[in-house]
Amino acid sequence: MKKIVILTGAGISAESGLGTFRAEGGLWAEHRIEDVATPEGFARDPQLVVDFYNARRAQAAEAAPNAAHLALAKLEAGFDGDVVLVTQNVDDLHEKAGMKRVMHMHGALNGALCGACDHRWPAPMVMAPGDACPHCKAPAARPDIVWFGEMPYDMEEIYDQLAQADLFAGIGTSGNVYPAAGFVAEARRHGAQTLEFNLEPSAVGSQFDDIRIGPATQTVPEWVAEVLGG
Ligand code: APR
Repeated sequence: MKKIVILTGAGISAESGLGTFRAEGGLWAEHRIEDVATPEGFARDPQLVVDFYNARRAQAAEAAPNAAHLALAKLEAGFDGDVVLVTQNVDDLHEKAGMKRVMHMHGALNGALCGACDHRWPAPMVMAPGDACPHCKAPAARPDIVWFGEMPYDMEEIYDQLAQADLFAGIGTSGNVYPAAGFVAEARRHGAQTLEFNLEPSAVGSQFDDIRIGPATQTVPEWVAEVLGG
Protein backbone atom coordinates (compact mmCIF):
# COMPACT_ATOMS: atom_id res chain seq x y z
CA MET A 1 0.00 0.00 0.00
CA LYS A 2 1.76 3.19 -1.10
CA LYS A 3 -0.68 6.06 -0.59
CA ILE A 4 -3.11 6.63 2.28
CA VAL A 5 -5.48 9.59 2.00
CA ILE A 6 -7.18 10.62 5.24
CA LEU A 7 -10.12 12.96 5.76
CA THR A 8 -10.78 14.20 9.28
CA GLY A 9 -13.77 15.99 10.74
CA ALA A 10 -14.77 17.58 14.04
CA GLY A 11 -14.99 14.16 15.72
CA ILE A 12 -11.20 13.80 15.83
CA SER A 13 -10.97 16.99 17.90
CA ALA A 14 -13.93 16.21 20.17
CA GLU A 15 -11.74 14.46 22.78
CA SER A 16 -9.50 17.54 22.81
CA GLY A 17 -12.49 19.48 24.11
CA LEU A 18 -13.48 21.20 20.85
CA GLY A 19 -17.19 20.99 20.05
CA THR A 20 -18.54 19.18 17.03
CA PHE A 21 -21.27 20.70 14.88
CA ARG A 22 -24.25 18.39 14.70
CA ALA A 23 -24.32 16.56 18.01
CA GLU A 24 -26.70 17.51 20.82
CA GLY A 25 -25.67 20.99 21.92
CA GLY A 26 -23.20 21.20 19.06
CA LEU A 27 -22.05 24.42 17.43
CA TRP A 28 -25.01 24.47 15.04
CA ALA A 29 -27.41 24.13 17.95
CA GLU A 30 -26.04 27.34 19.46
CA HIS A 31 -25.47 29.41 16.34
CA ARG A 32 -27.35 29.62 13.04
CA ILE A 33 -25.16 28.65 10.09
CA GLU A 34 -26.64 31.50 8.06
CA ASP A 35 -25.54 33.97 10.73
CA VAL A 36 -21.94 32.85 11.33
CA ALA A 37 -20.89 30.64 8.41
CA THR A 38 -22.03 32.39 5.24
CA PRO A 39 -20.74 35.46 3.36
CA GLU A 40 -24.24 36.96 3.71
CA GLY A 41 -24.06 36.56 7.50
CA PHE A 42 -20.68 38.28 7.56
CA ALA A 43 -21.97 41.16 5.42
CA ARG A 44 -25.03 41.50 7.68
CA ASP A 45 -23.21 41.47 11.02
CA PRO A 46 -19.41 41.28 10.78
CA GLN A 47 -18.97 41.83 14.54
CA LEU A 48 -21.11 38.75 15.37
CA VAL A 49 -19.07 36.66 12.93
CA VAL A 50 -15.60 37.78 14.04
CA ASP A 51 -16.66 37.32 17.68
CA PHE A 52 -17.73 33.73 16.87
CA TYR A 53 -14.35 32.93 15.31
CA ASN A 54 -12.36 34.88 17.94
CA ALA A 55 -13.98 32.65 20.59
CA ARG A 56 -13.24 29.46 18.62
CA ARG A 57 -9.64 30.62 17.96
CA ALA A 58 -9.09 31.25 21.69
CA GLN A 59 -10.56 27.84 22.56
CA ALA A 60 -8.48 26.06 19.93
CA ALA A 61 -5.33 27.85 21.15
CA GLU A 62 -5.86 26.22 24.56
CA ALA A 63 -6.60 22.76 23.14
CA ALA A 64 -4.04 19.97 22.97
CA PRO A 65 -3.81 17.30 20.28
CA ASN A 66 -5.16 13.93 21.45
CA ALA A 67 -3.96 10.37 20.86
CA ALA A 68 -5.71 10.25 17.47
CA HIS A 69 -3.93 13.37 16.17
CA LEU A 70 -0.63 12.06 17.54
CA ALA A 71 -1.15 8.64 15.93
CA LEU A 72 -1.71 10.23 12.51
CA ALA A 73 1.52 12.23 12.89
CA LYS A 74 3.28 8.96 13.77
CA LEU A 75 1.77 7.33 10.68
CA GLU A 76 2.99 10.20 8.47
CA ALA A 77 6.50 9.91 9.92
CA GLY A 78 6.72 6.11 9.90
CA PHE A 79 4.72 4.90 6.90
CA ASP A 80 6.91 3.75 3.97
CA GLY A 81 4.54 5.33 1.46
CA ASP A 82 2.66 8.64 1.23
CA VAL A 83 0.23 9.94 3.85
CA VAL A 84 -2.02 12.77 2.67
CA LEU A 85 -4.15 14.48 5.31
CA VAL A 86 -7.18 16.53 4.35
CA THR A 87 -9.09 18.10 7.21
CA GLN A 88 -12.46 19.83 7.36
CA ASN A 89 -11.38 21.15 10.75
CA VAL A 90 -10.19 24.72 11.21
CA ASP A 91 -8.28 24.02 14.43
CA ASP A 92 -4.49 23.41 14.32
CA LEU A 93 -4.40 20.21 16.35
CA HIS A 94 -2.95 18.16 13.48
CA GLU A 95 -0.09 20.67 13.25
CA LYS A 96 0.32 20.74 17.03
CA ALA A 97 0.63 16.93 16.88
CA GLY A 98 3.56 17.31 14.46
CA MET A 99 1.81 16.55 11.17
CA LYS A 100 3.80 18.10 8.32
CA ARG A 101 1.28 18.07 5.43
CA VAL A 102 -2.22 19.25 6.35
CA MET A 103 -4.72 20.49 3.76
CA HIS A 104 -7.32 22.67 5.47
CA MET A 105 -10.09 22.48 2.88
CA HIS A 106 -12.40 24.64 5.03
CA GLY A 107 -9.71 27.16 5.99
CA ALA A 108 -8.12 27.73 9.39
CA LEU A 109 -8.86 29.76 12.54
CA ASN A 110 -5.22 30.92 12.53
CA GLY A 111 -5.66 32.45 9.08
CA ALA A 112 -7.00 35.81 7.94
CA LEU A 113 -8.20 36.57 4.41
CA CYS A 114 -8.71 39.86 2.59
CA GLY A 115 -12.21 40.18 1.17
CA ALA A 116 -10.86 42.65 -1.38
CA CYS A 117 -7.63 41.13 -2.76
CA ASP A 118 -7.70 37.49 -1.46
CA HIS A 119 -4.38 38.00 0.34
CA ARG A 120 -3.97 35.53 3.28
CA TRP A 121 -1.95 36.12 6.43
CA PRO A 122 -1.69 34.80 10.00
CA ALA A 123 -4.78 35.93 11.91
CA PRO A 124 -4.43 38.01 15.09
CA MET A 125 -5.87 36.29 18.16
CA VAL A 126 -8.65 38.88 18.14
CA MET A 127 -9.89 40.05 14.75
CA ALA A 128 -12.10 43.13 14.42
CA PRO A 129 -14.39 44.05 11.51
CA GLY A 130 -12.63 46.48 9.17
CA ASP A 131 -9.10 45.39 10.09
CA ALA A 132 -6.83 46.47 7.26
CA CYS A 133 -5.34 44.01 4.83
CA PRO A 134 -1.51 44.19 5.16
CA HIS A 135 -1.25 43.83 1.38
CA CYS A 136 -3.85 46.11 -0.21
CA LYS A 137 -4.66 48.11 2.95
CA ALA A 138 -8.42 47.75 2.35
CA PRO A 139 -10.45 47.49 5.62
CA ALA A 140 -11.57 44.03 4.42
CA ALA A 141 -10.03 41.46 6.76
CA ARG A 142 -12.19 38.40 7.46
CA PRO A 143 -11.57 34.98 9.02
CA ASP A 144 -9.88 32.65 6.48
CA ILE A 145 -12.74 30.18 6.85
CA VAL A 146 -14.55 28.65 3.86
CA TRP A 147 -18.20 29.50 4.44
CA PHE A 148 -21.20 27.67 3.03
CA GLY A 149 -21.57 28.57 -0.63
CA GLU A 150 -17.83 29.20 -1.03
CA MET A 151 -15.34 26.95 -2.83
CA PRO A 152 -13.25 24.80 -0.47
CA TYR A 153 -9.47 25.06 -0.76
CA ASP A 154 -7.16 22.55 -2.51
CA MET A 155 -9.92 20.71 -4.35
CA GLU A 156 -7.86 19.94 -7.48
CA GLU A 157 -5.01 18.55 -5.38
CA ILE A 158 -7.45 16.58 -3.22
CA TYR A 159 -9.13 14.87 -6.19
CA ASP A 160 -5.72 14.15 -7.66
CA GLN A 161 -4.70 12.44 -4.42
CA LEU A 162 -7.99 10.52 -4.14
CA ALA A 163 -7.42 9.16 -7.66
CA GLN A 164 -4.09 7.65 -6.51
CA ALA A 165 -5.17 6.46 -3.05
CA ASP A 166 -4.68 2.80 -2.10
CA LEU A 167 -6.59 3.46 1.11
CA PHE A 168 -9.03 6.23 2.06
CA ALA A 169 -9.85 6.72 5.73
CA GLY A 170 -12.66 8.96 6.98
CA ILE A 171 -12.22 9.89 10.65
CA GLY A 172 -14.77 11.69 12.85
CA THR A 173 -16.97 13.20 10.18
CA SER A 174 -20.74 12.85 9.88
CA GLY A 175 -20.67 12.78 6.07
CA ASN A 176 -23.28 15.54 5.84
CA VAL A 177 -21.32 18.23 3.98
CA TYR A 178 -20.17 18.00 0.37
CA PRO A 179 -17.76 17.92 -1.37
CA ALA A 180 -15.96 16.17 1.56
CA ALA A 181 -18.79 13.63 2.00
CA GLY A 182 -18.25 12.54 -1.62
CA PHE A 183 -14.54 11.70 -1.16
CA VAL A 184 -15.23 8.08 -0.19
CA ALA A 185 -17.16 7.47 -3.44
CA GLU A 186 -14.39 9.18 -5.42
CA ALA A 187 -11.70 7.03 -3.78
CA ARG A 188 -13.75 3.83 -4.35
CA ARG A 189 -14.21 4.78 -8.00
CA HIS A 190 -10.43 4.66 -8.34
CA GLY A 191 -10.14 1.32 -6.59
CA ALA A 192 -9.14 2.40 -3.08
CA GLN A 193 -9.96 0.42 0.03
CA THR A 194 -12.08 2.55 2.36
CA LEU A 195 -12.20 2.64 6.17
CA GLU A 196 -14.36 4.78 8.46
CA PHE A 197 -13.68 5.70 12.10
CA ASN A 198 -16.64 7.03 14.05
CA LEU A 199 -18.83 6.53 17.12
CA GLU A 200 -21.56 5.41 14.70
CA PRO A 201 -21.83 4.98 10.94
CA SER A 202 -21.84 8.36 9.17
CA ALA A 203 -24.35 9.40 6.53
CA VAL A 204 -22.05 7.79 3.95
CA GLY A 205 -21.02 4.89 6.22
CA SER A 206 -22.50 2.32 3.85
CA GLN A 207 -19.96 3.36 1.20
CA PHE A 208 -17.01 2.28 3.33
CA ASP A 209 -15.60 -1.26 3.13
CA ASP A 210 -15.11 -1.31 6.88
CA ILE A 211 -15.91 0.81 9.93
CA ARG A 212 -14.18 0.97 13.30
CA ILE A 213 -16.70 2.06 15.92
CA GLY A 214 -15.42 3.83 19.02
CA PRO A 215 -13.67 6.98 20.19
CA ALA A 216 -10.96 8.05 17.74
CA THR A 217 -8.40 8.16 20.57
CA GLN A 218 -8.77 4.37 20.76
CA THR A 219 -9.55 3.26 17.21
CA VAL A 220 -7.01 5.43 15.36
CA PRO A 221 -3.90 4.52 17.40
CA GLU A 222 -4.87 0.82 17.13
CA TRP A 223 -5.14 1.12 13.34
CA VAL A 224 -1.86 3.06 13.02
CA ALA A 225 -0.07 0.38 15.06
CA GLU A 226 -1.44 -2.25 12.64
CA VAL A 227 -0.35 -0.27 9.57
CA LEU A 228 3.13 0.38 10.97
CA GLY A 229 3.35 -3.25 12.06
CA GLY A 230 4.03 -2.05 15.58
N1 APR B 1 -14.41 9.73 17.96
C1 APR B 1 -14.81 9.50 16.67
N2 APR B 1 -15.85 10.16 16.09
C2 APR B 1 -16.49 11.08 16.84
C3 APR B 1 -16.12 11.38 18.17
C4 APR B 1 -15.03 10.65 18.72
N3 APR B 1 -14.60 10.88 19.97
N4 APR B 1 -16.97 12.34 18.65
C5 APR B 1 -17.82 12.64 17.64
N5 APR B 1 -17.55 11.87 16.56
C6 APR B 1 -18.21 11.88 15.25
C7 APR B 1 -19.71 12.05 15.32
O1 APR B 1 -20.35 10.77 15.44
C8 APR B 1 -20.02 12.71 13.96
O2 APR B 1 -20.22 11.70 12.95
O3 APR B 1 -17.75 13.04 14.58
C9 APR B 1 -18.74 13.47 13.65
C10 APR B 1 -18.89 14.97 13.77
O4 APR B 1 -19.82 15.37 12.81
P1 APR B 1 -20.09 16.92 12.58
O5 APR B 1 -20.35 17.58 13.90
O6 APR B 1 -21.14 17.01 11.50
O7 APR B 1 -18.71 17.50 12.05
P2 APR B 1 -18.10 17.38 10.60
O8 APR B 1 -18.51 16.11 9.94
O9 APR B 1 -16.64 17.66 10.72
O10 APR B 1 -18.79 18.62 9.83
C11 APR B 1 -18.35 18.86 8.51
O11 APR B 1 -19.69 20.84 8.43
O12 APR B 1 -20.48 22.73 9.39
C12 APR B 1 -19.56 22.26 8.53
O13 APR B 1 -17.53 23.28 8.01
C13 APR B 1 -18.17 22.55 9.00
O14 APR B 1 -16.19 21.22 8.67
C14 APR B 1 -17.54 21.18 9.13
C15 APR B 1 -18.40 20.32 8.23
